[in-house]
Amino acid sequence: MKRAIITSALPYANGEIHLGHVASTYLPADITTRFLKMSGTEAYYICASDDYGTPILIQAEKEKKTPEEYVKVWNERDYSDFTAFGIDFDFFYRTSSPENVAFVQYVFNKLLENGHVYEQEIIQFYCSVDRKFLPDRYVIGRCPYCKAEDQYSDLCEKCGRIPQEIEEPKCAICKNPPVKEKTKHYFFKLTNFVSDLSRWLEADSHLQKDVKKYVQNWIRDGLVDWDITRDIPWGIPIPLSDAKGKVFYGWFDNHLAYISSTLKFLEGKGLDGKEFWNTAEIYHFIGKDIVYHHYLFLPAMRMGLGGEFKLPDYIPTRGHLMLQNKKISKSRNWYIGLREFLQWYPADYLRFYLTMITPFSQDDLNFDWDEFAGRINSELIGNVGNFVNRALGFTQKSDGGIVPAPDSFDSEDLEAQNKIRNLEGELTPFMVENHLDRALKKILEFSAYFNQYFQKKEPWKAETGKNNCIFISVNAVRSIAISLYPFLPESSQKIWSQLNLEGQISQNEWDAISKMAVVPGHKLGEICPLFKKVEISDIQAHKTKLGL
Ligand code: 2FM
Ligand code: ZN
Repeated sequence: MKRAIITSALPYANGEIHLGHVASTYLPADITTRFLKMSGTEAYYICASDDYGTPILIQAEKEKKTPEEYVKVWNERDYSDFTAFGIDFDFFYRTSSPENVAFVQYVFNKLLENGHVYEQEIIQFYCSVDRKFLPDRYVIGRCPYCKAEDQYSDLCEKCGRIPQEIEEPKCAICKNPPVKEKTKHYFFKLTNFVSDLSRWLEADSHLQKDVKKYVQNWIRDGLVDWDITRDIPWGIPIPLSDAKGKVFYGWFDNHLAYISSTLKFLEGKGLDGKEFWNTAEIYHFIGKDIVYHHYLFLPAMRMGLGGEFKLPDYIPTRGHLMLQNKKISKSRNWYIGLREFLQWYPADYLRFYLTMITPFSQDDLNFDWDEFAGRINSELIGNVGNFVNRALGFTQKSDGGIVPAPDSFDSEDLEAQNKIRNLEGELTPFMVENHLDRALKKILEFSAYFNQYFQKKEPWKAETGKNNCIFISVNAVRSIAISLYPFLPESSQKIWSQLNLEGQISQNEWDAISKMAVVPGHKLGEICPLFKKVEISDIQAHKTKLGL
């Protein structure tokens, strides 16, 4: 049996999940996992909260919580929001788990042993009042470019630039000017991996060509070694006696939780986690802002371990979601929280809309309230909902819900039958290549075709051909239910129940899509409309809330 491990970028345990998070990573990864499971792959979707880092420490301090308490809240909240959205993780863990701590320290020691880590003294701001080294986020001052006051030393939020050296630096905690002090840091020798990384990128693989190209340009422009140390009290301790008080930079440990969480999960199932990892196809779904980390740091660190854990086969990378054509920003309150959205509309509406607008590329996408309403009302409801309800509703009315035996097929019936027989073959390449939007559009085309078929056959006139039309249409509904399952799990289960077929929709195999398995004499379940229209007056209210 084929195996796969699917991960999606670990969300920081630092604030709620919003629509921007789910479009590019969690949803495509969830759809892919469901598809792989149906296709006979032993696939597991693994994720975790990303618990470390200075912003989390600062926020926990502001809220007068320990960082442990703080991340626990967000870990639980995020997991429950994802679940409400139909994201079906096999395991959701945390980067601060004891397993990850031990694994990260193990990896560090291995890299050190293999000559990929070295020490170097660096100069850092130190606050003699608070008696701590100040990471970039703890130093604020005037931006040297736009002269905005109170900006972080590693990012001016006013002009978006990264200051070379902040003017009039102050400690963010006590507002006193810090001094510069020496401190010993550990560096990962990324430069040791230039040729291995280049070879990996050049090899024929499933990695996206355009992404590879610009990673190759970064390599050409020259890589620099990577400071993996932070002098803060929240992080995984560096396991050396002369590194007291020092922890790993969050980006050193977070992606290692892909592996440590997988091992923990598989061992819980009585499997050999390492053997599974190394014989599985590995997928890491990400947004384009973290390409550097996933195409350089992550593979280099795995290479530095000497091949103990295999490199990713797929790193599906997608663009950012904009909201009404403007960049999403939590600090400017320009975002829509996932939880709030799900109080207004079913998860499947959002899954449908986001999949339709999200290509498998790095192009940015745009959430637009009017387009959302338009697509749900005309494509999901007007096309799919309409066909399903029409075909099943008519069978109910005319034949008491019992699927009639067909007569011999005319040319239109034969064409319709072929559409069913070919659907699986048309969808599979898109699913395999991660063109999920194209696959969903194919299902819509299929449904639109059957709307027309049904209309043309006019079964209500009860002349010859009625039985064929019902028989074929009910089978087409079944094909729609199965093929929609990875995309719209809840709605496809509803269709399945109305069809009154055996088992759960999730138990179907992918190639069941093209079988005509509803037999004459089968009795349908209770038929009712699948969806409720999106009201334009509600859309106006959502827009007003955003200030539009
Ligand atoms: O950018 C982010 O939101 C990070 N928390 C993603 C981490 S992914 C990783 F673990 F590799
Ligand atoms: Zn201070």
